[in-house]
Amino acid sequence: MIFPDGLALLRTQALIAGDWCEAESGKQFPVFDPASGELIAQVADMDAADARRAIQAAAKAQVDWAQTPVKERSLLLRRWFDLVMQHQEELAQILTAEQGKPLAEARAEIAYGASYIEWFAEQAKRINGDIIPAPSRHQRISVIKQPVGVVAVITPWNFPNAMLARKLAPALAAGCTLVAKPAAETPLSALALAALAQEAGIPAGVINIVTGSDAAAIGAELTGNPLVRKISFTGSTAVGKLLIQQCAADVKRITLELGGNAPFIVFDDADLDAAVAGAIASKFRNAGQTCVCANRFYVQRDIYTAFSEKLEVAMRALRIGKGAEQGTTIGPLISPAALLKVQQLVDEAISCGAQVAYQSSVNATQGYFYPPTLLTQVPAHAALAETEIFGPVAALIAFDEEAQVIELANRSVYGLAAYVFTRDYARIQRLGEQLQTGMLAINTGLISNEMAPFGGIKQSGWGREGSIYGLDDYLNIKYINENF
Ligand code: SIN
Repeated sequence: MIFPDGLALLRTQALIAGDWCEAESGKQFPVFDPASGELIAQVADMDAADARRAIQAAAKAQVDWAQTPVKERSLLLRRWFDLVMQHQEELAQILTAEQGKPLAEARAEIAYGASYIEWFAEQAKRINGDIIPAPSRHQRISVIKQPVGVVAVITPWNFPNAMLARKLAPALAAGCTLVAKPAAETPLSALALAALAQEAGIPAGVINIVTGSDAAAIGAELTGNPLVRKISFTGSTAVGKLLIQQCAADVKRITLELGGNAPFIVFDDADLDAAVAGAIASKFRNAGQTCVCANRFYVQRDIYTAFSEKLEVAMRALRIGKGAEQGTTIGPLISPAALLKVQQLVDEAISCGAQVAYQSSVNATQGYFYPPTLLTQVPAHAALAETEIFGPVAALIAFDEEAQVIELANRSVYGLAAYVFTRDYARIQRLGEQLQTGMLAINTGLISNEMAPFGGIKQSGWGREGSIYGLDDYLNIKYINENF
């Protein structure tokens, strides 16, 4: 996608201590449009030494930011939220250009990301302490909450605006300063968001953005530098495990939003039209490149064919194409490697006996498009039932009994989200208690919003983002024991 003229928020330099700057080495790295494979920007390719400068800038800004009254921090966040919404269209165009998702979804992502900024602008004013009854006379126990200090945030390419906003907003509200490392595939959305934070008046050094193609080198500096007191990461479980090891040396706090493998369970008493609408919303958002998206569909045997036929009809209405083109509902995958992985998972499922019930066609000769695909008769042990597909492939597995599907759903090492469609109230209660996930959607395919705690259990991560709990990870609790 060629950028339209006049995109004032387009930045290709990193942000350190309030200055837009190139890497010390002068190096740049390319950013491509996944819908065409064309080069769209060259961005500052920073290394560990640049990251160190950014950490020092964040540490310098930390003292004053922590002492800035919460009302002032809240107003700055609110101003940033207003600016993001005023520039929603421009931010969406930048996002679609580098990430590929349809413009309508990009606009929705900007609003979704902004909702976290708005929410934490409000929550900043509610970082209350406690007075606790003391065990003896002439004693007072008080509890105050303080910012953890400099935070390093590492964000993924699938939601390059919202995942950053979801981490920056609580960090700033809590009084932390930070260094952010956006994914190399999608640095432009992060830089544009930071440009608006600057315009909102958030002081120099409070937000630093380090762009770079060598994630391992920058990550090692972020985890190894003792000035950084916390890491917040959204990405793969494999990288999350590495970060845990790297953070051990300093006992840094860490929040991890890692991989998912969400079961989407349809019982025979469900409203099938609602289940199909939920399946489309959950499975095909961002072309299936979403940690919370439905990864394995378990459909009760007596409605299996009816559900599959209805889902096929709904999938036929999906329009695959360039995100910037009017009417597109499914964009490209992020890279050739992503395309290959999805193809291999589908091939493996077919070799185990899965049937291709439907596959749309792709007209593009360029770009990384994978057609929406419906697989039926998928064996429960197929690789795509155990691996995050991260593509627009719906894999349908039949089940007979409630106990059986709970066992199948919980078999995964992941525990991020699950979806259940049923009208049986008692069953909803049972599944609410027995499914091993951090989030559960009943009779809806949409689970995320700023007021709800987003996060997983098992190998899907640690901590929660958004909601009243989302500040906890950025705060230390201090207990003060007074005798008088
Ligand atoms: C993700 O699951 O990749 C993040 C999307 C969301 O916050 O809904």
